[in-house]
Amino acid sequence: MRKQTKRKAYAQKTGSLTGGKDLALKIYFAPMEGMTDGILRQAHRKIFGGVDVYCLPFHKLTQTMSLLTREERDISPEENEGLNVLPQALTRDPDQLSAWLFYVSECGYSCADLNIGCPSPTVTKKGRGSGMLLDLGYLRSFMDRVFSSTLPVSLSVKTRIGYDSAEEWPRILEVLNDYPLAHVTIHARTTREQYSGAVHHDAFSLALQSGTPHPVYNGDLRTAGDVEELLRDCPGTEAIMIGRGLLANPALARMIRGGAEASREELAAWYMTLYEDWKDRFHETLALGRIKKLMEWPAGEDIRRKRLLRRADHIEDCIDAMLGE
Ligand SMILES: Cc1cc2nc3c(=O)[nH]c(=O)nc-3n(C[C@H](O)[C@H](O)[C@H](O)COP(=O)(O)O)c2cc1C
Repeated sequence: MRKQTKRKAYAQKTGSLTGGKDLALKIYFAPMEGMTDGILRQAHRKIFGGVDVYCLPFHKLTQTMSLLTREERDISPEENEGLNVLPQALTRDPDQLSAWLFYVSECGYSCADLNIGCPSPTVTKKGRGSGMLLDLGYLRSFMDRVFSSTLPVSLSVKTRIGYDSAEEWPRILEVLNDYPLAHVTIHARTTREQYSGAVHHDAFSLALQSGTPHPVYNGDLRTAGDVEELLRDCPGTEAIMIGRGLLANPALARMIRGGAEASREELAAWYMTLYEDWKDRFHETLALGRIKKLMEWPAGEDIRRKRLLRRADHIEDCIDAMLGE
């Protein structure tokens, strides 16, 4: 399914978190550069499912308006056959964004995302990603320019709640709430906080209360219990985005919907499919490297598994390291 069906997915029913009562919760698989490529997205849908939208890692837009081969492949309809995907751009140039939105439309998609949340210093020092949050006057003029003509696809943004401090959040929301965004994904941390430390549920609540278009919560959802806590703290949450939690436990979205946890057979198939497909696309060594990188998430703080993984030379040894007793 190439075209997004925004409204339909909201109607999907889950019972686990409400003791059987219907709950509409849209689940996005977060974009993670270097990991969530088409191969991983396809394998995830086939083996585990439970995700409504798979987000594409950002395309870094440039003045030449050309994409890297890997970026072109990642957004191509062939790569995303059967998936509901959300492409993403990283830029601080409104004209680059507008041109890219036409390209996204030509690829057959109906919604695309702007990244104003990336905290990497190499990105922010150029005023991109969450660097856009440092100058809200510029963010407003950027949005004015983008929305000054009819867009070929709808636009969403993925943001953080501030650069230095969460106190910036109300003013960021004031800007974002002035534009007809399809949705706003909120990583509930500041840029300074990077990816660790407590998440700010109160900041997400503020978005829910202040009329932000379809807020999507993101940050540290690792278990169905974490989602329950979020829904308790932030009633009215319609949508969540999960990254590291799904890499650590690929059955997490299914479990949030009341489904089964991952079986040993599913996990073995997951790792083997990814390895074989990455091997066919790249090279054996690179495929093994990627699998080991992915396995770091489920391995967590398990020193023994991590040691076995480091020593593994073959996919079978990697799988044994992860699934062995
Ligand atoms: C290795 C890595 C790559 C990432 N790449 C992107 C990206 O391309 N675009 C984006 O919006 N966020 C990116 N993120 C952020 C994730 O999408 C997500 O917001 C973050 O991991 C927090 O969510 P989580 O706690 O569920 O993992 C990346 C994060 C990591 C760790």
